[in-house]
Amino acid sequence: MTSNLPVEVDWNALLAAAVDVSARAYAPYSKFSVGAAGLVDDGRIVRGCNVENSSYGVTLCAECGLVSELHAGGGGRLVAVAICGPNGEYLASCGRCRQLLLEAGGVDLLVNERPMHEWLPDSFGPADLAP
Ligand code: THU
Repeated sequence: MTSNLPVEVDWNALLAAAVDVSARAYAPYSKFSVGAAGLVDDGRIVRGCNVENSSYGVTLCAECGLVSELHAGGGGRLVAVAICGPNGEYLASCGRCRQLLLEAGGVDLLVNERPMHEWLPDSFGPADLAP
């Protein structure tokens, strides 16, 4: 099937990459390992896992690591992201991470096979800051 996306999304491979990186999660407090893998518009795959802290509120979600790797690797736009929890199945992002992913991929970014505008309707984004 053809699409308007700049790169083809292999959701099985993206979820597998998320599952793989979830094994590296540092989650000694919740014991809830999360992995996230994203396809960038230039074909790169970026990943992240959650990193917890003894000061619980300091915890970094998996999506934070993914977005950091996106920028550390030269930037670009996210096209598709898969996020998984400990059972290896799709996991919904927390609200903060939906906002974080929106900035990096826009309202058409596919998250767990659904567009961001469904996960975060009526969103606030960069365009709202325009004068
Ligand atoms: N977590 C994520 O990594 N991403 C989310 O979108 C939801 C929650 C992590 C944070 C914490 O380490 C664990 O899941 C339990 O909340």
